[in-house]
Parts: sequence; structure tokens; C-alpha cells
Amino acid sequence: MMADSMVTQDALRIAPLKPGSGFGAEVIGLDLATADDATLDEVVDAFNRHGALLLRGQRLDPAALMRFISHVGTPEGHTIQDFTLPGFPEIYVLSNRVENGRPIGAHNDGVGWHTDYSYKEEPVMSTMLYAVEVPAEGSDTLIADGVAAYEALPAERREALEKLRLHHSYRHFMETREHQRRELTPEQIRDNPDVVHPLIRVHPKDGRRALWPSTGTVTEISGQDDPKDLSILDELVAFMTGEEFVYRHKWQVGDLLMWDNRCTLHTGTLFDDRKYIRTMHRLWVKGDRPY
Ligand code: SIN
Repeated sequence: MMADSMVTQDALRIAPLKPGSGFGAEVIGLDLATADDATLDEVVDAFNRHGALLLRGQRLDPAALMRFISHVGTPEGHTIQDFTLPGFPEIYVLSNRVENGRPIGAHNDGVGWHTDYSYKEEPVMSTMLYAVEVPAEGSDTLIADGVAAYEALPAERREALEKLRLHHSYRHFMETREHQRRELTPEQIRDNPDVVHPLIRVHPKDGRRALWPSTGTVTEISGQDDPKDLSILDELVAFMTGEEFVYRHKWQVGDLLMWDNRCTLHTGTLFDDRKYIRTMHRLWVKGDRPY
């Protein structure tokens, strides 16, 4: 657990993102583009310890983003390739900007509480967002701490939840999502079979347990009398996303925010897209099989 004031951790100056909770940290005064490899490794270390990490005032071109992410792990590709940056298939553009009559990015892509790639055998370990253009209001990103939520549950409830397994379906997700519904191609269906993951996930680094629900992709819950009854999922997502467990990020241009998907949920929020432009570069780090 971190103190609420700024601390020096090895070479880094660090401040809490959510004072009093121990969740999330901000690294102050570090320029990722010019930092040496050893310092980037320190940043990754801080990320692993705090579950979410913020660095403000960055100037990161695509090559610098790729250099940093390769310190975190192996970059993950994107199921949908429409909006990746030319020459950088692992950098996905989120944007409502239209150029030459064509959107340059996916708009409102991450609205709704979720963990990335929950419908894959090996979901994304970390998500990184780099702010290129931000609205003056709205469009905050919210991150919920699944470890704190799990630990706040009574012991007998935690034990009862251990046996539940969530069935995630990419097809269900894409055919029912609110803003970007689409039919999948036969290849996409073949490449994204349904998967089953635990509701309580153990962190492979240190054994911490986290509540690990998600919305949009779950079709069934096994381990309960009626697998089709998703009410427990709604209840737990509402619990975990209560204010006490959530960090709300207000964006500035040049922010780099990353979080650990193995123990969090996140959501984007809406903004006035007739008035403002929001452009983010999103990168993912490959993960492993949840247990
Ligand atoms: C995401 O869920 O990947 C993006 C969230 C955001 O745009 O704030």
C-alpha cells in the first residue's frame, strides 16, 4: 500500500492516482521518449505493482510507443484492422475525426464496463491509451480495481463465487453491441470461438485474487442452477464499479494511461462529439490464460 504523498521509488518520482486506496500511480516528470532502457523497466515495475499507471506530458510518436510497449511485453494485434496506423498494425486509433469523408478511428469503442479481449483464450494483459486530441469536457476513462472489490466481499460470498465460470462470446458481443453492431465474417467466427473464464481471477505475478466480470461478451454462467441467469454478473459489475473502487481519468493531450486487465475493468464515457474531437492511440500487450 502506498502513502498518499509523492514517494521516490528507485529512479522514479511517484504519486498515487487514487489517494487512500493503493490503486494506481502517476510517474512524475519522466519523458518516456528519451528515457533509457533501465528507466523504462522501472516504469514497468511500477505498473506491475500499482495496477494502473499514468504519465502526463508525453510526446510519443508511433515508434516511441512501440519501444515503450515492448518493455511491458509482447504487443497484441487487433481483431478488427480497419483503424490501425499505417506501418504500425499494433497501434489502433480511437477517434471521431473524419478525414476526406472517412473516419480515421473507431468511435466510442470502449464504452461499457469490460476487460479487453475477454472473449479470447488469452485476454489482453495491459491496455495503453495515449492521448492525441481530447475534448474540453467528457470522455473520461474509468478504471475499477477488482482486487479491492474482491477483498471487500464477505469471506463466504468470495468462496461461493470461486466456482462460477463465465462463457464469453465474441460473436454475441459484435452482434449485440450498441454503437458498432456488425455481422462477423465466417473467418472471424472461426478465429474467435467462445471461451470460458473464471469469475475470480488469480494474478499470476503475486497470487492476488480479483473480481473479474465483464459486460457485453457473457452469454452464460456455469456453476449456478440456471446458466442463462446473468443477474449475478450485473450485481457484481455494479458493486465493483462503485465509486470507492474506481479511478476516473480526466484526459490531457500527451497523457499515457495504462492498466492491468487481469485485475481491473474499464470503460470509456461519452462526450459531445458534434463539438469536440477525441483521438487516442491504443496499444495492447499479450496476456495469458486466466485461472
Ligand atoms: C477502451 O476501452 O479500449 C478505450 C476506453 C476509452 O476510450 O476511454
